[in-house]
Amino acid sequence: MEMLKKSKYKNVAVVGVGAVGKMMLRVLKERKFPVDQLKVLARTARKIRVDGKVFNVEKINHESFRGIDIALFAGTEGEKGASVVYSSSAIRAGAVVVDNGGDFRMKKDVPLVIPEVNPEDIKKHRGLIANPNCSTIQMLVALYPIHKAFGLKRVIVSTYQAASGAGQAAIEELRSQSRAVLQGKDVLAPKVMGKQIAFNVIPKIGEFLEDAYTSEEIKLVKESHKILHTSKIKISATCVRVPVVNSHAEAIYIEVKKKSDVSKIRNVLKSAKGIKVVDQPKAKRFSLPIEASGKDAVYVSRIRKDAYVKGAFWIWVVSDNLRKGAATNAVQIAEYL
Ligand SMILES: NC(=O)c1ccc[n+]([C@@H]2O[C@H](COP(=O)([O-])OP(=O)(O)OC[C@H]3O[C@@H](n4cnc5c(N)ncnc54)[C@H](OP(=O)(O)O)[C@@H]3O)[C@@H](O)[C@H]2O)c1
Repeated sequence: MEMLKKSKYKNVAVVGVGAVGKMMLRVLKERKFPVDQLKVLARTARKIRVDGKVFNVEKINHESFRGIDIALFAGTEGEKGASVVYSSSAIRAGAVVVDNGGDFRMKKDVPLVIPEVNPEDIKKHRGLIANPNCSTIQMLVALYPIHKAFGLKRVIVSTYQAASGAGQAAIEELRSQSRAVLQGKDVLAPKVMGKQIAFNVIPKIGEFLEDAYTSEEIKLVKESHKILHTSKIKISATCVRVPVVNSHAEAIYIEVKKKSDVSKIRNVLKSAKGIKVVDQPKAKRFSLPIEASGKDAVYVSRIRKDAYVKGAFWIWVVSDNLRKGAATNAVQIAEYL
């Protein structure tokens, strides 16, 4: 009995209690992850409430990971962020880190994993496994089965990304700006999203990089190549923030190598893991961000062929960025571990 307890139940740390960290606590419970002891860490100690349950948040330090088996990081990215500062302490203490941020995703010895796509890469970890960016996860859950069956040549994606993708403070910013506009008041200078998001769309997520693409757009390309183990697929992205609270949508154009048609593509998607096809134009059935919110599936709608290019198709993909795009994907990786 003691042996069984030791092998199955894990001591888990969740780092960060923002939009993703809170979702992580929810998903661990929902999926009945076998948690022995749970430690919740952030920059400041306090109590938080998630779905009526109170969690004791401890102030993080380099000793916080003693005895921890799995550390799920959902802290801010960058130099002062949780993963850069504390992930090596967690690994030294014997924990396996699953990191939600972008700091380590492209490092050579860090597997970048979507369990529906490349679970075999988990085995290669050396203490840290990275969760891909939210828009990459939902795009590849939808595209991988098509790639496996017909071979992808070209992908052009336009994203419609929710405020929650930029964290809890961005959700508050969308809400307070929307209230101001509706009450006819001046909108305060944006602090999180750079420009006004209420009643607007912003075609810039992240920073501008080479050739005028943004960091979010380049992430979609590079992370997809790493996960699919090929850089031969030509991927171009335009990433746009929209005034939606939660769940990202993507309009995706694909060209495939092998002979295909809409019904073949639909069948491949219908039988793939993690996907729900909602696509009945006559019955006006298609997926929406507000309907995907709170769910774990990646929803695919509007499957149609391009009117001009042979072997080219369009799909519409929607998923909850805080769940499959972050917390659920990380907990699925922990389940594999
Ligand atoms: N939002 C999404 O859809 C999404 C999707 C995929 C990946 N991600 C990634 O997931 C991570 C978390 O995102 P989020 O949206 O949840 O952000 P968030 O709402 O801004 O929350 C950030 C949390 O990180 C904690 N934190 C920051 N620096 C820390 C440090 N040095 N040590 C310990 N804790 C620290 C903060 O602690 P305090 O509360 O004490 O300040 C806060 O609880 C980011 O790396 C983000 O890029 C987000």
